[in-house]
Amino acid sequence: MTRKTVRIAMNGVTGRMGYRQHLVRSILALRDQGGLDLGDGTVLWPEPVLVGRREHALREIAGRHGLEHFSTDLDSVLADPTVGIYFDAQATNARVEALTRAIAAGKHVYTEKPTATGLEAALRLARLAREKGVKHGVVQDKLFLPGLLKLKRLADGGFFGRVLSVRGEFGYWVFEGDWQPAQRPSWNYRAEDGGGIVVDMFPHWEYVLHELFGRVTSVQALATTHVPRRWDENGKPYDATADDAVYGVFELEGGAVAQINSSWAVRVHRDELVEFQVDGTEGSAVAGLRTCRVQHRSATPKPVWDPDVPAGEAFRDQWQEVPGNGEFGNGFKAQWELFLKHVHADTPYHWDLLAGARGVQLAELGLKSSAEGRRIAVPEITP
Ligand SMILES: NC(=O)c1ccc[n+]([C@@H]2O[C@H](COP(=O)([O-])OP(=O)(O)OC[C@H]3O[C@@H](n4cnc5c(N)ncnc54)[C@H](O)[C@@H]3O)[C@@H](O)[C@H]2O)c1
Repeated sequence: MTRKTVRIAMNGVTGRMGYRQHLVRSILALRDQGGLDLGDGTVLWPEPVLVGRREHALREIAGRHGLEHFSTDLDSVLADPTVGIYFDAQATNARVEALTRAIAAGKHVYTEKPTATGLEAALRLARLAREKGVKHGVVQDKLFLPGLLKLKRLADGGFFGRVLSVRGEFGYWVFEGDWQPAQRPSWNYRAEDGGGIVVDMFPHWEYVLHELFGRVTSVQALATTHVPRRWDENGKPYDATADDAVYGVFELEGGAVAQINSSWAVRVHRDELVEFQVDGTEGSAVAGLRTCRVQHRSATPKPVWDPDVPAGEAFRDQWQEVPGNGEFGNGFKAQWELFLKHVHADTPYHWDLLAGARGVQLAELGLKSSAEGRRIAVPEITP
């Protein structure tokens, strides 16, 4: 076996996603397993170079994990020819500029979503990457969740027949920050800092719907700010200028209708923090992050509406669990592995900056739909 070191500049590793999912659960987990076997006698050995604005925070993380390299100078990291990949998990507003610099420096780029807060900038990034001939990937982690992998298996296997509708329910209560600290960063609730649930979640719904059931062809959304005042990380009150809930209806290519509620101001009475119910002519499924249950046409009970008698059936018990039939690893790590193979073994990879731009487009049109109170067609973005 030949060991090949791949140096990855990781920007935003002091944040929630950058640290936990990308550094610890993906890159360090790959090192714990001995590297990534490319299957051709080569093992890739990822070497993170931590990048950020606060030196003491980077030093602390590096020390905690026995890492040698960290820097607060992005330009010098990008000028280093031994660094092959730039990864970005910064707050959304800082992303376009950093990615632009990384691509201009000839680095392959891998990034959190959304790639930008507007379509024009998202497309500019995709174009620049194509011109520079670098490889690029965008996080689409929900596709790698066990529940959604099972759902995709059902869709690919024709379980549903003709898909009629998809109902999604996403969200949980995010504390305001006064009497209990908020569990999400305060910039999420300020539009001027790249916050808002539409910009955050519509990119996820775009690729989930697109990859499982068909491209989104129109959007009608109502975005709102249910909690207008919040308290930040320092206990200081601020006005929430971004939307914290959105109620969206999406038409899909092929005729299905999707309706997804996304909210940070909802209390959970569900089995999981996100759930999708898919109804088709041949069968239905309810999938969450991990589980997926089905009810086939042949096993569908016949409820009769009668408000005078108590419900005589346990409806949830009438569904059958879809087996995993295998181990599902961390979804972020699974996608990192595919991206690293794409960069170093030239394997196909379609979750790129153009795919990322589709998500940004849906968020942009969703906000426009909400502001104008109308349904808006979603033009197809092609290479
Ligand atoms: N894929 C997913 O499921 C998922 C989930 C949550 C967040 N995200 C995305 O990940 C990104 C980070 O979100 P998070 O929740 O980890 O946020 P966070 O606030 O916890 O972390 C943000 C990181 O960016 C840095 N940062 C903040 N403001 C900055 C600025 N102005 N300039 C440069 N750096 C700045 C911070 O120091 C920190 O390292 C966001 O773009 C968000 O949309 C993705």
